[in-house]
Amino acid sequence: MVMQTILLGNSDERVSRLIYGCMRIVGDGSSDARARGKRAVQTAVDSGYTVFDHADIYGDGACEALFGELLQESPGLREQLTVVSKCGIRFAGDPDGNAPKRYDFSPQHIRHSVDGSLSRLGIEQLDVLLLHRPDYLFDPHELAAVLSELRKAGKVRHFGVSNFSPSQVALLNAVCDVPIQANQVEINLHRPDALTDGTLDQCQELGITPQAWAPLAGAVPQAGRTHFSDVDAARVQAELSAQAAHYDVEDWLIALAWLLRHPAGISPVIGTTTPERIRSAVTALDVEYTREDWYRLWEARNGAAVA
Ligand SMILES: NC(=O)c1ccc[n+]([C@@H]2O[C@H](COP(=O)([O-])OP(=O)(O)OC[C@H]3O[C@@H](n4cnc5c(N)ncnc54)[C@H](OP(=O)(O)O)[C@@H]3O)[C@@H](O)[C@H]2O)c1
Repeated sequence: MVMQTILLGNSDERVSRLIYGCMRIVGDGSSDARARGKRAVQTAVDSGYTVFDHADIYGDGACEALFGELLQESPGLREQLTVVSKCGIRFAGDPDGNAPKRYDFSPQHIRHSVDGSLSRLGIEQLDVLLLHRPDYLFDPHELAAVLSELRKAGKVRHFGVSNFSPSQVALLNAVCDVPIQANQVEINLHRPDALTDGTLDQCQELGITPQAWAPLAGAVPQAGRTHFSDVDAARVQAELSAQAAHYDVEDWLIALAWLLRHPAGISPVIGTTTPERIRSAVTALDVEYTREDWYRLWEARNGAAVA
């Protein structure tokens, strides 16, 4: 059970293949849940994860703050990790009661968000900043200028995007002097759109690291809502179980192996807070997953063989 490492996008930043997702680390905010979150992060560190995925909005800032506490308590830890955060989603009521939920890539909001993340995390520089969801109103020139400014100011080392379409990546890339190193999108058995909408093709073409959020949706009922009918879900589950028995791993690890098999080099973002699962996820990297089994699961999720 050994963590693999890869280079982040076209950068020289060596990172773990699996990313630990920190969206759930404060749970309901109780002291028990926070202690569980800290144990989860520590387990991820001990299991070889080096990339920790945050967003300014996770727990309304509480996830970054908890992680910052852990960094304070563990001298030397920060230097071992690649700390990622995201900006660009604003909740309803921010900053005043009438404001709707919205996306905001204005320079003012991005600067404010990055300063907030750095302060809560208690660090001088984000290793990676992802633009969380494409702002319909984004001006690529204005956006490129603020990313460049953040890099020059030493506040952010690398940049990426999240939930961007290939055309939005191309638009930003065309005017941006900082490289886009990652695109974090939902990829799982329920939502495999990235395989067919050009996202993974573009990642391979440009050397961008694709990161899969909610990697277990469609495979584990607790891991994300799906529109699968009961019949579809049962068919997927039966195929996962059959393959799990063959490879001698737990069912859900087959869903990770299915993502890892893609040649674009998908990095799943692992969101469980259960220590045993955080450790076990690493074993998915050892599964020598065949093309035939990949297609068996594809057929099971589609309910039909390929044409
Ligand atoms: N960029 C974006 O727009 C975006 C959106 C959403 C999420 N994310 C990132 O992606 C990360 C992962 O997302 P996620 O947390 O939704 O994904 P996930 O890893 O697919 O799901 C985690 C949830 O599934 C449960 N779970 C996991 N394995 C299980 C198993 N074998 N059996 C039963 N339950 C299991 C976990 O429960 P336990 O904790 O109890 O084990 C947890 O509630 C987040 O932390 C965040 O960093 C990014």
